[in-house]
Amino acid sequence: MVKPKVAIVTGAARGIGRAIAERLMHDGFIVAIADMNEASARSTCEQIAWIAADHVFAVHVDVTDAASARQMVASVIERHGQVDVLVNNAGVVGVSGPVVTYAEDEWRRVLATNLDGTFYCSKAVLPHMLERRTGRIVNIASISGKEGNPNMPAYSASKAGVIAFTKALAKEVLTQGIYVNCVTPSLIQTDMANSVGTEQRAALIAKIPMGRMGQPEEVAALVAWLASPECSFSTGAVFDISGGRATY
Ligand SMILES: NC(=O)c1ccc[n+]([C@@H]2O[C@H](COP(=O)([O-])OP(=O)(O)OC[C@H]3O[C@@H](n4cnc5c(N)ncnc54)[C@H](O)[C@@H]3O)[C@@H](O)[C@H]2O)c1
Repeated sequence: MVKPKVAIVTGAARGIGRAIAERLMHDGFIVAIADMNEASARSTCEQIAWIAADHVFAVHVDVTDAASARQMVASVIERHGQVDVLVNNAGVVGVSGPVVTYAEDEWRRVLATNLDGTFYCSKAVLPHMLERRTGRIVNIASISGKEGNPNMPAYSASKAGVIAFTKALAKEVLTQGIYVNCVTPSLIQTDMANSVGTEQRAALIAKIPMGRMGQPEEVAALVAWLASPECSFSTGAVFDISGGRATY
C-alpha cells in the first residue's frame, strides 16, 4: 500500500484553511490542522474526520512564535515521519484605517502573523524537505499584496511581503525538489471577510468583475493542484484567484 502524503495547513480551524484541509483529505493526504485556536481545531477535526478516518489531527501553533512553529513541525514529523506539503494559510486582516492613525501595535500584529508566520513555518519545515529533496510550500497571499487596498496598509504590506518571500525562497530551493508558490485571492466568503465591515466589504466586492465573493472551496481546488505532483513546472509563481479583478 502506498503511504499517504502528509500536509500541514496552518490556520485550518476554519475558513479557507479548513476548506484546503478537507480538499487535501479528499485527495488522499493526512492533514495536520495547525491553529492557535485549539478548541476550534479539534472541533474541525471531529467534523471532517468522516472523509477519511485517522487522516486528520489537530496540532497547536502560534505562527508568530518561531519556537512554536518548530515544535509544531517536529510533532507532525514525530507522528507521521514526514511532511510533504506546507500550506501557510494562517492570517489576520487587522483593523481597517488610514496610515495616519494606524496603531503601531496593530501593524506589528498583522506583519507578525502574515509575514513572520510564513517565514517561521517555512524555516521550520525546510531542513526536513531539503533532506528528503522533495516538498511543496503554498503560501496564501492576497490581491491586496499585488495592488494595495486603501485603509488596509498592514495587511497589504504583509501580503506583498509573502509574495516576495515566495519568489525568493522558490529560487533558493528549486533545484532541490522543493517548489514554492503563492495564491492571491480577492474577497473570499469567510469569517475574515465578514469582519472587515459592511462598507469596506461592499467596496471590495465592487472591484470583482464576477460580482461576487469567492468560495473557500474554489481556493482549495487551486491549492490542491499546487500541492500535487501535477504542479511540476511552476515555482515562485503568483496564482490569481480573484473573479477577474487581477488579469496580470
Ligand atoms: N477571506 C478573504 O477574503 C481572503 C482574501 C485573500 C486572502 N486571504 C487569506 O487567506 C488566509 C485565510 O483567511 P480566512 O478568510 O480563512 O481567515 P479566518 O479568519 O476565517 O481564519 C484564519 C485562521 O487562522 C488562525 N490564526 C490566526 N492567527 C494565527 C496564529 N498566530 N497562529 C495560528 N493560527 C492563527 C485562526 O485561528 C483561524 O482559524 C489568510 O492568510 C488570509 O489573509 C483571505
